[in-house]
Amino acid sequence: MTDTTNNEATSSGGCPFHHPAPATAAAAPGDAQWHGAQMDFSKSMSYGDYLGLERILTAQHPLSPEHNEMLFIVQHQTSELWMKLMLHEMHAVVANIQADNLSPAFKMLARVARIMDQLVHAWDVLATMTPPEYTAIRPYLGASSGFQSFQYREIEFILGNKNPNMLAVHESATDNHARLRQALHAPSIYDEAIRLLARHGLRIAAERLERDWSQPTVADESVKEAWLEVYRDPQKHWALYELAEKLVDMETAFRFWRFRHVTTVERIIGFKTGTGGTAGVSYLRKMLDVVLFPELFALRTAL
Ligand code: HEM
Repeated sequence: MTDTTNNEATSSGGCPFHHPAPATAAAAPGDAQWHGAQMDFSKSMSYGDYLGLERILTAQHPLSPEHNEMLFIVQHQTSELWMKLMLHEMHAVVANIQADNLSPAFKMLARVARIMDQLVHAWDVLATMTPPEYTAIRPYLGASSGFQSFQYREIEFILGNKNPNMLAVHESATDNHARLRQALHAPSIYDEAIRLLARHGLRIAAERLERDWSQPTVADESVKEAWLEVYRDPQKHWALYELAEKLVDMETAFRFWRFRHVTTVERIIGFKTGTGGTAGVSYLRKMLDVVLFPELFALRTAL
């Protein structure tokens, strides 16, 4: 928000090394001055007020005496913030596809993919945590695990990886549970894309257009044929073709995230069980096999 690359410091008499500028003749005694910037926020909204920084920056509560726990907390908290933005975009994508409003949906899908890319790179920071550093904090984590991230589960649901069993973890948190339930029973982004194919006149089996949305995506021959038609004549179906490629982009970025998670986890805890109670790396490896948009990948072999 603030431009810290201001090169006018010297020409305006200020210090290029960010020492306070000398007070101008117009300044009242005791008034701080810097390049005309507003300095008094006793009566107006500041940067920190707008962003709620007081709450965000006081929400890190390490339980151990270990230096490295702060990294662990900040990495998870920032991931959750980015997930919040992804969900904000994804819900809007669903609404825009439903309304046949594809251009804004494309922009949002591109944004989601770039957020995922960024979360993929974020693993580099966590990978600086060594096994002994993690082992020192592990006893303080109790049974808490990313497995219980309700935002992550909502992302999975809105992408079509539905699993009613995942609701149980959130039963004690009423709002999160209700939100997840709603996502479980609503059509996913991919379900909406398939309904769009039908609205564009492509033949989709009736049972694929109205089904029990709480079930995971299962590959469907009519959907594969419809996407094949799109890919065989992109000029004729440009909007659908563009949508398909945006979805593939997003799934690819998500796969990278899963992959970096499991490799970082293996690097840090090896094959120990997870704090959430699963077998750990072997569980996470199984999740690598999840395919969100099966026909979009299958059609490539058929082209
Ligand atoms: C040292 C760091 C980390 C370790 C050792 C670790 C380990 C694990 C393990 C073993 C699991 C399987 C569930 C369990 O039994 O606990 C898991 C799941 C999960 N973790 Fe991590 N994790 C780490 C960092 C992170 C970070 C930074 C995030 C970002 C939010 C994250 C998000 C998740 C999610 C969403 C799941 C559920 C995956 C699924 O069910 O498909 N983890 N983690």
